[in-house]
Amino acid sequence: MNDHNTTTNHTMTLTNNETGEAFELPVLGGSVGPKVIDVRRLYGDTGYFTYDPGFTSTASCESTITYIDGDEGILLYRGYPIEDLAVHCDHMEVSYLLLFGELPNAEQKAKFEHDITYHTMLHEQVNQFYRGFRRDSHPMAIMCGVVGALSAFYHDSLDINDPWHRTVASYRMIAKIPTIAAHAYKYAIGQPFIYPDNGLKYSENFLHMLFATPAEDYEVSPTLARAMDRILILHADHEQNASTSTVRLAGSSGANPFACIAAGIASLWGPAHGGANEAVLNMLHEIGDKSNITEYVKKAKDPDDPFRLMGFGHRVYKNFDPRARVMQQTCHEVLEELGITDEPLLELAMELEKIAVEDDYFVERKLYPNVDFYSGIIFKAIGIPTTMFTVLFAVARTVGWIAQWNEMVEDPSQKIGRPRQLFTGPPRRDFVTLDKRG
Ligand code: CMC
Repeated sequence: MNDHNTTTNHTMTLTNNETGEAFELPVLGGSVGPKVIDVRRLYGDTGYFTYDPGFTSTASCESTITYIDGDEGILLYRGYPIEDLAVHCDHMEVSYLLLFGELPNAEQKAKFEHDITYHTMLHEQVNQFYRGFRRDSHPMAIMCGVVGALSAFYHDSLDINDPWHRTVASYRMIAKIPTIAAHAYKYAIGQPFIYPDNGLKYSENFLHMLFATPAEDYEVSPTLARAMDRILILHADHEQNASTSTVRLAGSSGANPFACIAAGIASLWGPAHGGANEAVLNMLHEIGDKSNITEYVKKAKDPDDPFRLMGFGHRVYKNFDPRARVMQQTCHEVLEELGITDEPLLELAMELEKIAVEDDYFVERKLYPNVDFYSGIIFKAIGIPTTMFTVLFAVARTVGWIAQWNEMVEDPSQKIGRPRQLFTGPPRRDFVTLDKRG
């Protein structure tokens, strides 16, 4: 049950300066974070809507999963700081935490891992879908298509009001998403699909499916598997961001969960969201050399130039992104393990970071490097091609989407999402037949 909000003992008064009428609005408090003004009855009582494009001041739901304090740079999953989880847990423990609210004990963890592992294979017919795509398709296009296609399979778990059906659908989605992603990569490079190896851990298996070939075994480096696990943990959930809100909105109509996740993947694709890690690398290539940094920083600051420094700034964090700190450290570990000491792109990135964080424009606007700034560099070092970066983000975010989707379905106050609008188009006018239009 998800009904933890408390009505505070105060209200907010809204006065209509035109009519002099005053309305009392209840104020609700969560366990931590800003209080919210409950406007649910506003339209019914006053005839007014609220107006908040981009939802900068709107809480769209009640949630117990993830908490962010953007000013302090804090990110908690179910109350636990992201830094602790990233260092002490693996992705399966964090997935269990996000789904069920508590960290698992050893027995619970083993069972969960087992249950997830035995859903890693795709229905063989799903594998045929890939052939319908051009080889040069963006892998995110393939992800949207193939994940959406899962809704045409697995008809034994279609009743979203049945908790067991929801659990099976959730486990399938979490288990199959690395397989789907790895197949998208293999298809793009013209190599045969590598089937999952259930003897491997989640991240090891993902790397195995990405890099092994039938002709050659791929020995998974523990450092790289650990780095992949950290990346998955750091991206696993992030409160009501664009893609999560998309999953919730799609799911609010009672739609098939796989179709809802496909909608989330579509939303994640954009460069302002999950596409930023790919955009960072493209930007670094475009800048090309340290000597060009000043020119590009100038472009980023020019209000008439649409260029922005990719990997900088965040809608919520107005402080260092806590995920970026862990990612920065992981980035150095990976480069050391791989013996990459003179990577020009990394040097360029470090120089860019230094200049940007000291520049008044970025300091005043609180634009810090975000998680995508470093993840792109790690992916590049591991040997993952740029177009796959956002796919990896999608693999990681899947457990968050699933946890949020489950929470929404179980929420007794859940309704179909249906925002309203401030209409500025033409009011009713008389129809003019074609022969009379000038
Ligand atoms: N480079 C240059 N200027 C920037 C940048 C940037 N990366 N980000 C924001 N600004 C400026 C912006 O022009 C505005 O300036 P002014 O006040 O003079 O008009 C000011 O900072 C506030 O920006 P905003 O657009 O109102 O901020 P927002 O909260 O709407 O945008 C953002 C957040 C992430 C979309 C934006 O910072 C951005 O486009 N960053 C680059 C893309 C990126 O790295 N995205 C990944 C986000 S983290 C991954 C995730 O969680 O999805």
